[in-house]
Amino acid sequence: MSHRTCSRREFLAVAAVLLTACGQRPRNQPLPDWMLTPDNAEDPDLVRDMLVIQDLLVRHGEIRREVQHYSYGIRATTTSPAADLAARIREHVDQMRSRLRRGAAIRQEDPLFAAVFAHHQAVDLQVERLPGGVRVTEVSDDPVTVMLLRQHAVHAVSEFVAGGIDRARQPTPLPPGYPG
Ligand code: HEM
Repeated sequence: MSHRTCSRREFLAVAAVLLTACGQRPRNQPLPDWMLTPDNAEDPDLVRDMLVIQDLLVRHGEIRREVQHYSYGIRATTTSPAADLAARIREHVDQMRSRLRRGAAIRQEDPLFAAVFAHHQAVDLQVERLPGGVRVTEVSDDPVTVMLLRQHAVHAVSEFVAGGIDRARQPTPLPPGYPG
């Protein structure tokens, strides 16, 4: 399949069309610029990954999520009764795991995401595929990285599931007591 990068303007236009096609209310404008990696010309996977994220946000009401906490990290179960959405959740996690491995940052004007990617080498992310989605175990030997993983699981992903695009348009605070 051929693949080309598109400009930020083209991407936002696609996002707008998709949201309209999905019957979103007008206040659900396209995802803001700051959700994107600083220079998407250097990130050929960005549009592909953002289109998956957009599906998850638009259909957030069909997603269920539980987070368990451990001293060394978290285990989160994210599922949907809709088989196509369950597949999108798995796709997103595979894409984000690859980004963490490569350090290919996304959503870098959100302080929490900037910090997560600054610590990407200290994160171990394991995925168990479930019939309705995924169970992800994220751990680290570094206590500061564990703080970030916990904040990301509870105050980013779980809030995105609860609030969809409206929540995703807001930044995510660093965890209380974060030293950096
Ligand atoms: C309803 C919307 C979303 C769902 C259901 C979702 C789901 C997930 C899940 C299951 C994980 C694995 C870690 C965990 O379970 O805590 C994850 C990781 C990740 N997601 Fe999402 N996500 C959503 C929205 C977003 C958005 C809006 C972004 C950024 C624009 C994003 C970027 C990431 C990144 C960078 C990771 C890897 C970082 C890490 O796990 O520490 N996600 N997401």
